[in-house]
Amino acid sequence: MITLWARDRLTGRHLKRKTREYLEKLEHGPVLASQSAATELLRQMADEPGPKVSVGKTSWGEPVIVPLIDLVKACGLTTGGMGAGKTMFAMLPIAEMIRLLPGLTNMSFGVLDAKGELFERALYLLGARLAQLRGREREALARRIVVIDFSSRDAVSPYNILAGWPYTDQDFFVTSRLETLRELLPAGEKLSLRGAAVLKNILTLLAEFNLPLTYLEAVLGDDAFRQKLLLRSKNAAVRAYFQRYFLQEGKQTIGALRARMEALFASAGVHLALSGSTAPDFKSLQNEGKIVLVNCALRHPAVDLRPAEQPAGNLPLVRGRGPEFLFDETAAGGYGDRPDHGTLLRLLLLFSLPKSLHRHS
Ligand SMILES: Nc1ncnc2c1ncn2[C@@H]1O[C@H](COP(=O)(O)OP(=O)(O)OP(=O)(O)O)[C@@H](O)[C@H]1O
Ligand SMILES: [Mg+2]
Repeated sequence: MITLWARDRLTGRHLKRKTREYLEKLEHGPVLASQSAATELLRQMADEPGPKVSVGKTSWGEPVIVPLIDLVKACGLTTGGMGAGKTMFAMLPIAEMIRLLPGLTNMSFGVLDAKGELFERALYLLGARLAQLRGREREALARRIVVIDFSSRDAVSPYNILAGWPYTDQDFFVTSRLETLRELLPAGEKLSLRGAAVLKNILTLLAEFNLPLTYLEAVLGDDAFRQKLLLRSKNAAVRAYFQRYFLQEGKQTIGALRARMEALFASAGVHLALSGSTAPDFKSLQNEGKIVLVNCALRHPAVDLRPAEQPAGNLPLVRGRGPEFLFDETAAGGYGDRPDHGTLLRLLLLFSLPKSLHRHS
């Protein structure tokens, strides 16, 4: 009797233990299997040749060391609440690339920053790297850096959105600019068809003479100026439009166009930038492997330029070929109280990014 009882008791315990283990395996098995596959992959990545970036640890403590080239080639998005560490994370591949400059020739990067912090940090690291270099190396790096700082009043960055694209049909170019300007207008203030026709003819005329959009008012309101341009214009269709139809346009149409364009470029920063006669050719800059830093923050934020802590995070938004454009805080909607940021950023995104990047933005 005692033996049987002991046997049942023992077997029961054994069974219970085995059942518990089996259920635990069922519950955690897939997680453990995926962790082990991820660990294996991470170790393989860490063993790959070439420069690496340490981006943090997995939730189970495995270091995440990623080949720099994978981060630069990847298309990703980093999200997180305010102060979550997005900018610090984006700095990791940038800092590694800067550390390897000017020897790093198979990749480059660009920064388009609405808040200024990523721009400032990248600029600071580039400055520190330049200070470490001498002679030819220093010159080579300095030649690669292109800074477009819309917050600077000392060095205004010209941005003539009517400066034509090379090898592009003029009519296609003007139509595309017209469409972009129309897209920029708020939903309730779209241009009428007549207004769009007036604007298209003005854009064509200005583009022909390489004049910036800020001359729109002169074409609309200054008869002598308009006539001067028309006399020299080689575009028969535009000449015909202004001679035959322009003066018949309704006051309301002209007034609405004027008001909308004025509102779009009301801020002094945007106006200054758009008044230039030239524009950076982002496609060429990209092809030449330049490091392009664009600051759209029209006020300097208080920036802490101490060396960055090692942040952890998700994938940065780095994409395309050649110098990759890394967007930080491009959600212009987040700057509703600072229209400068929104307008300029949207202008940059819509007008200037190479088409290959445009598709993704
Ligand atoms: N991995 C990290 N470890 C420790 N501190 C960090 C880490 N990442 C960021 N921080 C700290 O958090 C602060 C905010 O980080 P960061 O500016 O990158 O956040 P953000 O998500 O870009 O914020 P915002 O939404 O305001 O732009 C940093 O100044 C830094 O002090
Ligand atoms: Mg940030």
